[in-house]
Amino acid sequence: MRAIIYQNQKGLSYQEIQNKRPEAGEVKIKLKSAGLNRRDLFVMDQHHSQKVFYTPGSDGAGIITELGEGVVDFKLYDKVIINPSLDWEMAKNVPAAPHILGGPSNGTFSEYSIIPSQNIVKKPAYLSWIQAGVLSLSALTAYRALFTKGKLQTGHHLLIPGIGSGVATYALFFAKAIGAKVSVTSRDEEKLRKTGDLGADYLLKTDSDWTAKMKEGKFDIILDSIGPALFPKYIDVLKPDGNLVNFGASSGDSIDLSLRSLFYPQFNILGTSMGSKEEFEQMIQFITHHKIKPVLDSVYPLIEFEQALERMKSGNQFGSIGLEME
Ligand SMILES: NC(=O)c1ccc[n+]([C@@H]2O[C@H](COP(=O)([O-])OP(=O)(O)OC[C@H]3O[C@@H](n4cnc5c(N)ncnc54)[C@H](OP(=O)(O)O)[C@@H]3O)[C@@H](O)[C@H]2O)c1
Repeated sequence: MRAIIYQNQKGLSYQEIQNKRPEAGEVKIKLKSAGLNRRDLFVMDQHHSQKVFYTPGSDGAGIITELGEGVVDFKLYDKVIINPSLDWEMAKNVPAAPHILGGPSNGTFSEYSIIPSQNIVKKPAYLSWIQAGVLSLSALTAYRALFTKGKLQTGHHLLIPGIGSGVATYALFFAKAIGAKVSVTSRDEEKLRKTGDLGADYLLKTDSDWTAKMKEGKFDIILDSIGPALFPKYIDVLKPDGNLVNFGASSGDSIDLSLRSLFYPQFNILGTSMGSKEEFEQMIQFITHHKIKPVLDSVYPLIEFEQALERMKSGNQFGSIGLEME
Protein backbone atom coordinates (compact mmCIF):
# COMPACT_ATOMS: atom_id res chain seq x y z
CA MET A 1 0.00 0.00 0.00
CA ARG A 2 1.04 3.62 -0.43
CA ALA A 3 1.47 6.04 2.45
CA ILE A 4 3.10 9.32 3.43
CA ILE A 5 6.16 8.54 5.53
CA TYR A 6 8.08 10.86 7.82
CA GLN A 7 11.73 9.91 8.36
CA ASN A 8 14.16 12.02 10.37
CA GLN A 9 16.89 13.56 8.17
CA LYS A 10 14.89 12.65 5.01
CA GLY A 11 11.59 14.41 5.80
CA LEU A 12 8.34 13.44 4.07
CA SER A 13 7.84 11.16 1.09
CA TYR A 14 5.03 9.23 -0.59
CA GLN A 15 6.06 5.60 -0.83
CA GLU A 16 5.06 1.95 -1.06
CA ILE A 17 5.16 0.30 2.38
CA GLN A 18 4.43 -3.17 3.73
CA ASN A 19 0.74 -4.06 3.86
CA LYS A 20 0.08 -5.31 7.42
CA ARG A 21 -2.83 -7.24 8.93
CA PRO A 22 -4.78 -6.20 12.04
CA GLU A 23 -3.95 -7.91 15.32
CA ALA A 24 -6.49 -8.96 17.97
CA GLY A 25 -8.82 -6.10 18.83
CA GLU A 26 -7.80 -4.03 15.77
CA VAL A 27 -9.46 -3.26 12.45
CA LYS A 28 -7.97 -2.42 9.08
CA ILE A 29 -9.56 0.62 7.43
CA LYS A 30 -9.39 1.65 3.77
CA LEU A 31 -9.22 5.38 4.28
CA LYS A 32 -11.40 7.66 2.16
CA SER A 33 -10.25 10.94 3.74
CA ALA A 34 -7.95 12.40 6.38
CA GLY A 35 -7.58 15.76 8.11
CA LEU A 36 -4.58 17.92 8.96
CA ASN A 37 -3.83 19.37 12.38
CA ARG A 38 -1.06 21.73 13.48
CA ARG A 39 0.05 18.82 15.64
CA ASP A 40 1.25 17.02 12.49
CA LEU A 41 3.86 19.77 12.09
CA PHE A 42 4.77 19.91 15.83
CA VAL A 43 5.35 16.17 15.99
CA MET A 44 7.63 16.15 12.93
CA ASP A 45 9.64 19.02 14.46
CA GLN A 46 9.90 17.14 17.77
CA HIS A 47 11.19 14.02 16.05
CA HIS A 48 13.57 15.89 13.79
CA SER A 49 16.71 14.46 15.42
CA GLN A 50 15.33 11.06 16.51
CA LYS A 51 15.32 7.90 14.46
CA VAL A 52 11.72 7.61 13.28
CA PHE A 53 9.76 6.14 10.37
CA TYR A 54 6.03 6.72 10.64
CA THR A 55 2.91 7.88 8.82
CA PRO A 56 1.60 11.21 10.18
CA GLY A 57 -2.06 12.15 10.53
CA SER A 58 -4.54 11.94 13.40
CA ASP A 59 -7.90 12.40 11.69
CA GLY A 60 -9.49 10.06 9.17
CA ALA A 61 -12.55 8.15 8.00
CA GLY A 62 -13.00 5.07 5.84
CA ILE A 63 -14.36 1.55 5.38
CA ILE A 64 -13.40 -1.53 7.42
CA THR A 65 -11.75 -4.11 5.16
CA GLU A 66 -10.41 -6.55 7.76
CA LEU A 67 -11.30 -7.44 11.35
CA GLY A 68 -8.77 -8.60 13.93
CA GLU A 69 -9.59 -11.48 16.23
CA GLY A 70 -12.20 -10.71 18.89
CA VAL A 71 -13.69 -7.60 17.23
CA VAL A 72 -17.47 -7.94 17.62
CA ASP A 73 -18.85 -4.38 17.68
CA PHE A 74 -18.08 -3.78 13.98
CA LYS A 75 -18.39 -5.76 10.77
CA LEU A 76 -16.71 -5.75 7.37
CA TYR A 77 -17.51 -2.71 5.19
CA ASP A 78 -18.77 -0.60 8.10
CA LYS A 79 -18.15 3.10 7.41
CA VAL A 80 -16.27 4.57 10.35
CA ILE A 81 -14.60 7.67 11.80
CA ILE A 82 -11.33 7.34 13.71
CA ASN A 83 -10.96 8.74 17.24
CA PRO A 84 -7.25 9.67 17.51
CA SER A 85 -7.24 9.78 21.33
CA LEU A 86 -5.61 6.45 22.22
CA ASP A 87 -5.87 4.53 25.52
CA TRP A 88 -8.37 6.87 27.21
CA GLU A 89 -11.78 5.41 27.86
CA MET A 90 -13.68 7.37 30.53
CA ALA A 91 -13.68 11.18 30.79
CA LYS A 92 -12.81 11.15 34.49
CA ASN A 93 -9.70 8.95 34.15
CA VAL A 94 -7.43 11.68 32.79
CA PRO A 95 -4.05 10.47 31.46
CA ALA A 96 -0.82 12.31 32.40
CA ALA A 97 -0.56 13.40 28.76
CA PRO A 98 -2.73 12.59 25.75
CA HIS A 99 -1.59 9.67 23.59
CA ILE A 100 -2.48 10.66 20.03
CA LEU A 101 -2.57 8.68 16.78
CA GLY A 102 -0.08 9.73 14.09
CA GLY A 103 3.50 10.14 15.35
CA PRO A 104 5.22 8.16 16.57
CA SER A 105 2.45 5.61 15.91
CA ASN A 106 1.30 5.24 12.28
CA GLY A 107 -1.52 7.62 11.42
CA THR A 108 -3.98 8.39 8.66
CA PHE A 109 -2.05 9.93 5.71
CA SER A 110 -2.19 6.55 4.02
CA GLU A 111 -4.33 4.27 1.85
CA TYR A 112 -4.96 1.96 4.84
CA SER A 113 -4.69 2.34 8.60
CA ILE A 114 -4.78 -0.25 11.39
CA ILE A 115 -6.64 1.09 14.41
CA PRO A 116 -7.82 -0.39 17.76
CA SER A 117 -11.56 -1.07 17.41
CA GLN A 118 -12.00 0.98 20.62
CA ASN A 119 -11.00 4.00 18.54
CA ILE A 120 -13.66 3.96 15.85
CA VAL A 121 -17.31 4.96 15.67
CA LYS A 122 -19.83 4.52 12.85
CA LYS A 123 -19.83 7.43 10.42
CA PRO A 124 -23.06 9.45 10.64
CA ALA A 125 -24.75 9.27 7.22
CA TYR A 126 -25.31 13.05 6.97
CA LEU A 127 -21.53 13.68 6.81
CA SER A 128 -19.69 13.32 3.50
CA TRP A 129 -16.42 11.38 3.52
CA ILE A 130 -14.33 14.52 3.59
CA GLN A 131 -16.41 16.08 6.38
CA ALA A 132 -16.13 12.88 8.43
CA GLY A 133 -12.37 12.67 7.90
CA VAL A 134 -11.37 16.11 9.16
CA LEU A 135 -13.23 16.64 12.40
CA SER A 136 -12.05 14.23 15.11
CA LEU A 137 -9.18 15.91 16.95
CA SER A 138 -10.53 19.46 16.94
CA ALA A 139 -14.17 18.61 17.58
CA LEU A 140 -13.27 16.27 20.46
CA THR A 141 -11.03 18.94 22.03
CA ALA A 142 -13.78 21.55 21.71
CA TYR A 143 -16.41 19.20 23.15
CA ARG A 144 -14.46 18.32 26.31
CA ALA A 145 -13.25 21.91 26.79
CA LEU A 146 -16.75 23.40 26.58
CA PHE A 147 -18.96 20.82 28.22
CA THR A 148 -16.89 18.57 30.51
CA LYS A 149 -14.50 21.25 31.75
CA GLY A 150 -16.20 24.61 31.04
CA LYS A 151 -19.73 23.39 32.00
CA LEU A 152 -21.19 25.61 29.28
CA GLN A 153 -24.98 25.97 29.49
CA THR A 154 -27.81 27.58 27.55
CA GLY A 155 -27.76 31.35 28.07
CA HIS A 156 -24.07 31.50 29.06
CA HIS A 157 -21.85 34.02 27.30
CA LEU A 158 -18.71 32.38 25.87
CA LEU A 159 -15.60 34.15 24.58
CA ILE A 160 -13.53 32.36 21.92
CA PRO A 161 -10.30 34.29 21.33
CA GLY A 162 -8.56 33.56 17.99
CA ILE A 163 -11.39 32.16 15.88
CA GLY A 164 -8.77 31.08 13.31
CA SER A 165 -8.13 27.80 15.17
CA GLY A 166 -9.91 24.58 14.16
CA VAL A 167 -11.07 23.89 17.72
CA ALA A 168 -12.54 27.41 17.89
CA THR A 169 -14.87 26.83 14.92
CA TYR A 170 -16.35 23.68 16.50
CA ALA A 171 -16.67 25.48 19.84
CA LEU A 172 -18.69 28.20 18.09
CA PHE A 173 -21.05 25.64 16.50
CA PHE A 174 -21.45 23.63 19.73
CA ALA A 175 -22.15 26.70 21.86
CA LYS A 176 -24.69 28.12 19.40
CA ALA A 177 -26.37 24.68 19.16
CA ILE A 178 -27.25 24.77 22.87
CA GLY A 179 -28.33 28.43 22.84
CA ALA A 180 -25.27 30.12 24.35
CA LYS A 181 -24.16 33.61 23.32
CA VAL A 182 -20.74 33.67 21.61
CA SER A 183 -18.17 36.42 21.18
CA VAL A 184 -15.02 35.82 19.15
CA THR A 185 -11.79 37.71 18.57
CA SER A 186 -9.58 37.65 15.51
CA ARG A 187 -6.71 39.71 14.13
CA ASP A 188 -8.19 39.22 10.68
CA GLU A 189 -11.24 41.17 9.40
CA GLU A 190 -12.01 38.50 6.81
CA LYS A 191 -12.10 35.72 9.42
CA LEU A 192 -14.43 37.88 11.54
CA ARG A 193 -16.73 38.42 8.58
CA LYS A 194 -16.88 34.67 7.88
CA THR A 195 -17.50 33.96 11.58
CA GLY A 196 -20.42 36.38 11.55
CA ASP A 197 -21.93 34.28 8.76
CA LEU A 198 -21.53 31.20 11.00
CA GLY A 199 -23.65 32.72 13.75
CA ALA A 200 -21.29 34.42 16.24
CA ASP A 201 -23.01 37.18 18.23
CA TYR A 202 -20.11 39.63 18.79
CA LEU A 203 -17.11 40.01 16.48
CA LEU A 204 -14.13 41.65 18.19
CA LYS A 205 -10.93 42.72 16.47
CA THR A 206 -8.03 41.43 18.61
CA ASP A 207 -6.10 44.71 18.46
CA SER A 208 -9.16 46.89 19.29
CA ASP A 209 -10.19 47.93 22.82
CA TRP A 210 -12.59 45.01 23.08
CA THR A 211 -12.13 44.54 26.82
CA ALA A 212 -13.60 48.02 27.49
CA LYS A 213 -16.55 47.14 25.26
CA MET A 214 -17.20 43.78 26.98
CA LYS A 215 -16.55 44.86 30.61
CA GLU A 216 -20.27 45.45 31.16
CA GLY A 217 -21.65 42.09 30.04
CA LYS A 218 -18.68 39.90 31.05
CA PHE A 219 -18.19 36.25 30.11
CA ASP A 220 -19.21 33.08 31.94
CA ILE A 221 -16.55 31.09 30.09
CA ILE A 222 -13.41 31.89 28.09
CA LEU A 223 -11.93 29.20 25.83
CA ASP A 224 -8.26 30.09 25.43
CA SER A 225 -5.56 28.63 23.21
CA ILE A 226 -3.57 31.82 22.62
CA GLY A 227 -1.98 32.21 26.05
CA PRO A 228 0.23 35.16 27.09
CA ALA A 229 -0.71 37.55 24.25
CA LEU A 230 -4.27 37.82 25.57
CA PHE A 231 -4.34 36.16 29.01
CA PRO A 232 -4.04 39.38 31.14
CA LYS A 233 -7.10 40.80 29.35
CA TYR A 234 -9.27 37.86 30.37
CA ILE A 235 -9.08 38.96 34.02
CA ASP A 236 -11.04 42.13 33.14
CA VAL A 237 -13.85 40.41 31.29
CA LEU A 238 -14.48 37.09 33.12
CA LYS A 239 -17.42 37.00 35.57
CA PRO A 240 -16.64 36.16 39.22
CA ASP A 241 -16.46 32.36 39.58
CA GLY A 242 -16.13 32.17 35.77
CA ASN A 243 -14.32 29.36 33.98
CA LEU A 244 -11.19 30.01 31.93
CA VAL A 245 -10.46 26.85 29.97
CA ASN A 246 -7.06 26.60 28.27
CA PHE A 247 -6.05 24.05 25.62
CA GLY A 248 -3.13 25.70 23.81
CA ALA A 249 -0.17 28.05 23.96
CA SER A 250 0.00 29.64 20.51
CA SER A 251 1.73 32.85 21.71
CA GLY A 252 4.04 31.26 24.33
CA ASP A 253 4.20 28.93 27.30
CA SER A 254 4.24 31.23 30.36
CA ILE A 255 1.83 33.79 31.79
CA ASP A 256 2.44 36.41 34.45
CA LEU A 257 -0.65 36.71 36.64
CA SER A 258 -1.37 38.43 39.96
CA LEU A 259 -2.75 35.80 42.34
CA ARG A 260 -4.95 38.47 43.93
CA SER A 261 -6.65 39.01 40.55
CA LEU A 262 -7.39 35.29 40.63
CA PHE A 263 -8.59 34.60 44.17
CA TYR A 264 -10.71 37.72 44.79
CA PRO A 265 -13.08 37.03 41.87
CA GLN A 266 -12.59 33.26 42.42
CA PHE A 267 -11.81 32.39 38.81
CA ASN A 268 -11.44 28.75 37.82
CA ILE A 269 -8.48 28.20 35.49
CA LEU A 270 -8.80 24.77 33.89
CA GLY A 271 -6.48 22.90 31.54
CA THR A 272 -7.87 20.50 28.96
CA SER A 273 -6.49 18.32 26.16
CA MET A 274 -8.26 16.17 23.57
CA GLY A 275 -10.84 13.89 25.21
CA SER A 276 -11.83 10.33 26.06
CA LYS A 277 -13.65 7.61 24.11
CA GLU A 278 -16.72 8.42 26.23
CA GLU A 279 -16.61 12.09 25.13
CA PHE A 280 -15.82 11.21 21.50
CA GLU A 281 -19.01 9.13 21.33
CA GLN A 282 -21.00 11.91 23.03
CA MET A 283 -19.56 14.44 20.58
CA ILE A 284 -20.57 12.32 17.56
CA GLN A 285 -24.12 11.98 18.97
CA PHE A 286 -24.20 15.74 19.61
CA ILE A 287 -23.12 16.74 16.09
CA THR A 288 -25.48 14.16 14.57
CA HIS A 289 -28.41 15.52 16.59
CA HIS A 290 -27.61 19.12 15.60
CA LYS A 291 -26.43 18.22 12.06
CA ILE A 292 -23.17 20.10 12.61
CA LYS A 293 -20.71 19.96 9.69
CA PRO A 294 -17.07 21.06 9.66
CA VAL A 295 -16.07 24.20 7.78
CA LEU A 296 -13.73 23.07 5.00
CA ASP A 297 -10.92 25.38 3.99
CA SER A 298 -9.40 23.22 1.26
CA VAL A 299 -9.10 19.61 0.09
CA TYR A 300 -6.10 17.97 -1.65
CA PRO A 301 -5.51 14.50 -3.10
CA LEU A 302 -3.24 12.45 -0.77
CA ILE A 303 -0.35 12.75 -3.22
CA GLU A 304 -0.45 16.56 -2.84
CA PHE A 305 0.18 16.33 0.95
CA GLU A 306 3.02 18.86 0.69
CA GLN A 307 0.71 21.59 -0.64
CA ALA A 308 -1.78 20.73 2.13
CA LEU A 309 0.92 21.07 4.82
CA GLU A 310 2.07 24.37 3.27
CA ARG A 311 -1.48 25.66 3.54
CA MET A 312 -1.49 24.73 7.24
CA LYS A 313 1.90 26.38 7.80
CA SER A 314 0.64 29.62 6.18
CA GLY A 315 -1.92 30.06 8.98
CA ASN A 316 -4.33 31.63 6.44
CA GLN A 317 -6.80 28.78 6.49
CA PHE A 318 -10.33 29.18 7.85
CA GLY A 319 -11.62 25.75 8.78
CA SER A 320 -10.20 22.29 8.13
CA ILE A 321 -7.69 21.15 5.53
CA GLY A 322 -8.48 17.69 4.17
CA LEU A 323 -6.82 14.94 2.13
CA GLU A 324 -8.78 12.63 -0.18
CA MET A 325 -7.47 9.12 -0.88
CA GLU A 326 -9.05 8.57 -4.30
N1 LIG B 1 -4.63 20.45 23.88
C1 LIG B 1 -5.22 19.92 22.83
O1 LIG B 1 -5.78 18.84 22.87
C2 LIG B 1 -5.19 20.67 21.55
C3 LIG B 1 -5.90 20.21 20.44
C4 LIG B 1 -5.90 20.99 19.28
C5 LIG B 1 -5.18 22.18 19.26
N2 LIG B 1 -4.47 22.55 20.38
C6 LIG B 1 -3.76 23.84 20.43
O2 LIG B 1 -4.71 24.83 20.14
C7 LIG B 1 -4.09 25.94 19.53
C8 LIG B 1 -4.88 26.27 18.32
O3 LIG B 1 -4.49 25.48 17.25
P1 LIG B 1 -4.13 26.13 15.87
O4 LIG B 1 -3.33 25.16 15.13
O5 LIG B 1 -5.33 26.62 15.18
O6 LIG B 1 -3.21 27.33 16.43
P2 LIG B 1 -2.65 28.66 15.85
O7 LIG B 1 -2.82 28.72 14.38
O8 LIG B 1 -1.29 28.80 16.42
O9 LIG B 1 -3.53 29.75 16.54
C9 LIG B 1 -4.93 29.75 16.54
C10 LIG B 1 -5.42 31.16 16.47
O10 LIG B 1 -5.00 31.89 17.60
C11 LIG B 1 -4.84 33.24 17.24
N3 LIG B 1 -3.49 33.66 17.61
C12 LIG B 1 -2.35 32.94 17.48
N4 LIG B 1 -1.31 33.66 17.94
C13 LIG B 1 -1.79 34.84 18.38
C14 LIG B 1 -1.21 36.00 18.96
N5 LIG B 1 0.11 36.11 19.19
N6 LIG B 1 -2.03 37.03 19.29
C15 LIG B 1 -3.35 36.95 19.07
N7 LIG B 1 -3.95 35.88 18.51
C16 LIG B 1 -3.20 34.84 18.17
C17 LIG B 1 -5.08 33.32 15.74
O11 LIG B 1 -6.42 33.68 15.53
P3 LIG B 1 -6.79 34.77 14.42
O12 LIG B 1 -6.04 34.36 13.17
O13 LIG B 1 -8.26 34.58 14.29
O14 LIG B 1 -6.37 36.07 14.96
C18 LIG B 1 -4.87 31.92 15.29
O15 LIG B 1 -5.55 31.58 14.11
C19 LIG B 1 -2.63 25.58 19.38
O16 LIG B 1 -1.94 26.13 20.47
C20 LIG B 1 -2.67 24.05 19.44
O17 LIG B 1 -1.49 23.49 19.92
C21 LIG B 1 -4.47 21.83 21.49
